[in-house]
Amino acid sequence: MSTSVLIQFSLFAALTSIILLINSLRKDKSKYAHLPFPPGPKPLPIIGNALDLPQEREYATYHEWSKLYGDVIHAQAFGQHILIINSVDAARELLDKRSGIHSDRPHVPMVHDPALMHMDWSFPMMRYDARWKRHRRLFVQHLNPVAMEAYSDKILATAHGFLRNVLADPTTFHRSLKHAIGSILLGVVYGYEVLPENDPFVKLAEDTVTLTTDAISPAWVPGNKFKPYAAKDQGKAVPSVVSKGLAEITQTDTPDPEKLDDLMKLGAVMYAAGADTTITPVQFAILNAILNPEIQRRAQAELNSVLASPDSRAFRLPTFEDMSALPYITALMKESLRWVPVQPISLPHASLEEDEFRGWRIPKGSIILPNAWTMLHNEAMYKDPFVFRPERFLRHGDHQPEPDPSGMGVFGFGRRACPGDHIAEKVIGIELASLFAVFNFAPPKDNDGNDIDLTYATIPGSEFILHTPHYPCSITVRSKIAEERILGTTE
Ligand code: HEM
Repeated sequence: MSTSVLIQFSLFAALTSIILLINSLRKDKSKYAHLPFPPGPKPLPIIGNALDLPQEREYATYHEWSKLYGDVIHAQAFGQHILIINSVDAARELLDKRSGIHSDRPHVPMVHDPALMHMDWSFPMMRYDARWKRHRRLFVQHLNPVAMEAYSDKILATAHGFLRNVLADPTTFHRSLKHAIGSILLGVVYGYEVLPENDPFVKLAEDTVTLTTDAISPAWVPGNKFKPYAAKDQGKAVPSVVSKGLAEITQTDTPDPEKLDDLMKLGAVMYAAGADTTITPVQFAILNAILNPEIQRRAQAELNSVLASPDSRAFRLPTFEDMSALPYITALMKESLRWVPVQPISLPHASLEEDEFRGWRIPKGSIILPNAWTMLHNEAMYKDPFVFRPERFLRHGDHQPEPDPSGMGVFGFGRRACPGDHIAEKVIGIELASLFAVFNFAPPKDNDGNDIDLTYATIPGSEFILHTPHYPCSITVRSKIAEERILGTTE
């Protein structure tokens, strides 16, 4: 769901609320009422900027607005105040340093109301309250970088399964990638082994993510169907978040139903928040390597130096231990996260209290939209920001590495910042290393044998989570030995 749709629902609620309208016309007695709002497009009476707010590709419009109005922009519609934050400095000041005030999420009736989508169980959308704190704590307890090490073998085995699928049928690349990321998340959360094709649980999970108009809680949320898998794992070798959590909760004679409920809902959120997002940077990295063969050449030269040439008997597949010796692959991952940020406009924050910032007034209940697109294309931070250039993150000659995009808006800010950032980077890094170690990627050919130009696929769409437009590509295995190594990995 795009942020503009979210905002529209909020605006709809505001429009239908006569009280809100009356309040907006009353004399304002708030502490900072004398202060101006930040600059922004001139509002019309009552409807404010409702007609100015973009319906699609908001990030592009807000990027243009940033050139006119600066790094903090104010807009309003039907009494709802909206702040668009275009710089990392302003985001850090408001969302990091004042996170106690600006970490709420807007109440979106369509999303939160029990009679509508009833998604209030999903902690990315939760209000900033005790329940959100419990969910966040649970996430960090089970999925911090140290805890995640228990799942490294699972992630690596899934990467190998992905290579086998691509080798068997390169035309399934995009589908196999989606399958691999989904398998990792369902494996980590539930210890569940996804079927190679048409897995019913993947289908169920995807339907839950995409069919968000379903008004009732999805059937799998309370763990009805997954629970047996997770429970089955207890005491066995396969660790999973839910099996570990269940083991803890059921240690006592009277397991706490609230904890059980939190755990199951957390599991559902992991797939929803992680599956779709983690695919995009892999797709953009491969696309750019096809468009610019030098990227592929450098990635493979680096991999050869660590894993041996794929023509040599010494050649092996990469592991997590190799990642620290693969700075170019890491830089490629970072550039893919930066160049097209997966969520160009981050999830909206909301202000619990009125605030003052740089002499401007931020009313209570304001919606705050961090515009990662503009932050990550800021010329002062990133030279030629619209050029895809992994080496910007490497030290060479006098060149100092440009700022790591993970702290510059890719994963949001403050207490609501993405808690899955390290999982995403771990997965993207090993997928890229594995793919470039064994495959060559090239443009597909048309019927006359000419390269098809894939430049069209560099222009992302308008979704809340951006993806590459679908692109075909030619994938060939680098050598006979590389093929043997792929086939040598076990199911
Ligand atoms: C490339 C991959 C990913 C990107 C770019 C990304 C980005 C984001 C962003 C921008 C937010 C909103 C932050 C804010 O409100 O300031 C967010 C929230 C969240 N993400 Fe991610 N994410 C990714 C992968 C993941 C993964 C793999 C998981 C879980 C396994 C995950 C779980 C979450 C959760 C639970 C939240 C909500 C946090 C809260 O509201 O407290 N994300 N993510």
